Amino acid sequence: MKKIILDTDPGIDDALAICYALNHPQIDVLALTTIYGNVATELATQNALRLCELNQRPVPVAQGALTPLKIDSNPVADFVHGLNGFGEIELPTPSLQPVTTTAAETIVELLNKFPNKVTLVAVGPLTNLAIALELDPTIVNKVDSVVVMGGAFHCDGNVTQYAEANIWNDPHAAQQVLTADWPLTVHGLDVTYRITFDANYLEQLASQAPAVGGFLMDAAKFYSQFYKEHHNFDGCCPHDQLAISFLCNPEWYTLEHGTLDVITDGEAPGKTSIKATGHSNKAIATDVNSEALLTDYAAVLSQAI
Ligand code: BDR
Ligand code: CA
Repeated sequence: MKKIILDTDPGIDDALAICYALNHPQIDVLALTTIYGNVATELATQNALRLCELNQRPVPVAQGALTPLKIDSNPVADFVHGLNGFGEIELPTPSLQPVTTTAAETIVELLNKFPNKVTLVAVGPLTNLAIALELDPTIVNKVDSVVVMGGAFHCDGNVTQYAEANIWNDPHAAQQVLTADWPLTVHGLDVTYRITFDANYLEQLASQAPAVGGFLMDAAKFYSQFYKEHHNFDGCCPHDQLAISFLCNPEWYTLEHGTLDVITDGEAPGKTSIKATGHSNKAIATDVNSEALLTDYAAVLSQAI
């Protein structure tokens, strides 16, 4: 089993990724840690708890930072994910409660409890990971690896010409996380735009798993409307899922190795870059086997309720 901590801002593509992780037979989700981005952090926490209840998988949920490290908060992405983060599809108020430790404390605690056994997956702004690094710098040697959804290396951003949303929302945290001396793979827009979940595919998920797949199909309608209006294509991009599919099937991905950097100030804040170097424990994904990913996602989801 692959032990993971999933740092997330649910969010519709976060929901797609969380439901897959919670139902994957080889992934052991030790905790969901929450962050602002698609919604405010408090709502991200409630949404993470809602998804645990929907999937009948009560994993610990730890609430994270409410604001970025240095910049003022950007507005939440309600025009992409809806005011409730789930495309206005309501799930019941959760009866589960978050744990009392913060996201960063939970990350530090679990990495120390299971040294070199835990993969840290981050699919939202990177504030919690940066705070965890500050709380306990030794975690760089205790994590198995770090997998991030964020950035736009050889392509345009989705918030500005240069910046992708997760990096844009806290460029200082991203700079610390992408340059820390730990093994890290980043899935930016270069690779995430290569996968589309279209209406037929989402219907298939719903027919296989009526409760979980049905919810995801309904929530993704709002998200797909955004893609129709802004990108003129049918369906939606499951950005965050690219980081999760990588965990058990890295062979589907093309990687480029090098040192990474993030611009924090000036004219292009949030711009990510990679420089080829002889030895690097960092990589970005540039391509993926789309057919294999889609087939596998549906197979895992068919095990959901
Ligand atoms: C990223 O930003 C969020 O809107 C998505 O959940 C994803 O993590 C894509 O840029
Ligand atoms: Ca996300």
